[in-house]
Amino acid sequence: MQDLIERAARDVAATRRAVALTGAGISIESGIPPFRGPGGLWEKIDPMEVAHIDAFRRDPQKVWDLLIRGMQSVLAQAQPNLAHRGLAALEDMGHLQAVITQNVDGLHQQAGSRDVIEFHGSFAWQRCMVCERRCRSAELDLAVIPPRCDCGGILRPDCVFFGEMIPPAHLVRSQQLAAGCQVMLVVGTSATVQPAAMLPLIARDAGALVIEINPEPTPLTGSVSDYLIPGPAGQVVAAIRDRVGELKETS
Ligand code: OAD
Repeated sequence: MQDLIERAARDVAATRRAVALTGAGISIESGIPPFRGPGGLWEKIDPMEVAHIDAFRRDPQKVWDLLIRGMQSVLAQAQPNLAHRGLAALEDMGHLQAVITQNVDGLHQQAGSRDVIEFHGSFAWQRCMVCERRCRSAELDLAVIPPRCDCGGILRPDCVFFGEMIPPAHLVRSQQLAAGCQVMLVVGTSATVQPAAMLPLIARDAGALVIEINPEPTPLTGSVSDYLIPGPAGQVVAAIRDRVGELKETS
């Protein structure tokens, strides 16, 4: 693995136009379970029953009880890990342009990343289903579920449920970043949910190097990505960050 870390560090150090695409795997070391695989959320609950917008419209109380409330309390305790901090450092060092994350946990921003596209929205905010007013999740009164806006409308997290569109501005900017980057770091995603999973293909087709960081292979491995670094995000990203720093000092 050391050889691959060295290779990735050299690839990142050689560009000012790297972009990261991240998924649930990057936040596992922060105590947030993934969606798929061992211990994954979708092993315990059916996403079409709790994470589809039609399910929310049909029975918001059930979705709040089975999904949102639990996720909010896990996210409230989570802290950024070495991988979030490593990507923030690569941005500071002038190599990483932006992070496109499928996560709703806000940990990239907490780690110091400045340019973060929250592709699937955020759990930090709630939005009224009627008047669209937004309020901070941390300020919610959860004595009554589902919580309601002052106008009486039901509140929902400001995230993308299955069956909803990606906010067009996020989609367009992400596609532009993918098409314009020289290196894409694909960290901790199973690359199975569209349209996020398309971004590495856009990058590859535009000539970028696609590097995966994931303990397991994904559908991108061996076809879309140039190479996979098979390890946990925290250890691998921190090692890349350290090596990029050394290479800068010696250049
Ligand atoms: P998944 O849960 O599908 O995939 C998590 C990935 O993280 C897997 O490929 C794991 O092998 C990998 N992984 C596990 N441990 C890791 C570690 N320590 N370091 C790095 N990687 C590790 O999560 P996503 O790909 O993010 O969408 O899922 C995509 C979307 O599906 C989510 O945004 C969510 C979900 O349904 C919506 O809710 C709309």
